[in-house]
Amino acid sequence: MTTAKDRIIVALDFSSVEEARELAKRLRGRVGVFKIGMELVYSGGLELACELADAGEQVFLDLKLLDIGHTVMQATRAVARTGAAFLTVHAVDEKTLNAAVEGRGNSALKLLGVTVMTHLDDRDLEQQGIVDRTAAQLALHRAQMAADCGFDGVISSGYEAAAIRKVVGADRLIITPGIRPAGTDRGDQNRVMTPGRAIKAGADYLVIGRPVTGAADPLAAVEAITREITEAESLAG
Ligand code: C5P
Repeated sequence: MTTAKDRIIVALDFSSVEEARELAKRLRGRVGVFKIGMELVYSGGLELACELADAGEQVFLDLKLLDIGHTVMQATRAVARTGAAFLTVHAVDEKTLNAAVEGRGNSALKLLGVTVMTHLDDRDLEQQGIVDRTAAQLALHRAQMAADCGFDGVISSGYEAAAIRKVVGADRLIITPGIRPAGTDRGDQNRVMTPGRAIKAGADYLVIGRPVTGAADPLAAVEAITREITEAESLAG
């Protein structure tokens, strides 16, 4: 059974493997997943990902793959061999999505589609030549495509979670970044949501970086977030 703490994905956004390893050690057993993104991967973090996976942790490799199909397929296959539990892929076309599904094969790796990066607005899309739909409409279209291709879930801001849930159905995962407990600094995130509100909006997992990594007491921070999730679940359930 998924408990409240299992829904917390801590983003180990450090450039030093040592700092990331230290925080992972402190939070072991208190959160569900450790996310390792490009900053850490390009600083030696892939070894840490394998180390955590070998120790039985759920590891999320946030690599946002996008390349020709063959390369995406082989890269996904290589990620599956690391023992990671989750991988992100840009959900921009079926060739990319199908290639990742093929690369995942029979492994337990869960594939998550990145629909529209949340820092992009309609003007940025216009620059990319996308003029016939808004960022929100494009996100729904891509979420549907990812689900149809066999992806396990999508990354979505809390504000689109309910609409995406209608499109992808109950069986797909919705992973929500941009989480800020009440009273914490929003940093560069524009559209933030509290943990409780994001869970009520339909998120299955919350990606949380700076509210934990920057906290004076990271363990106390995750425990407060766990309590808030438990409360939101009991209200929803
Ligand atoms: O520190 P903060 O809680 O804002 O970190 C959020 C994490 O989620 C970062 O690792 C960031 O790269 C990731 N993310 C995001 N927005 C997206 C996709 C991923 O904030 N749309």
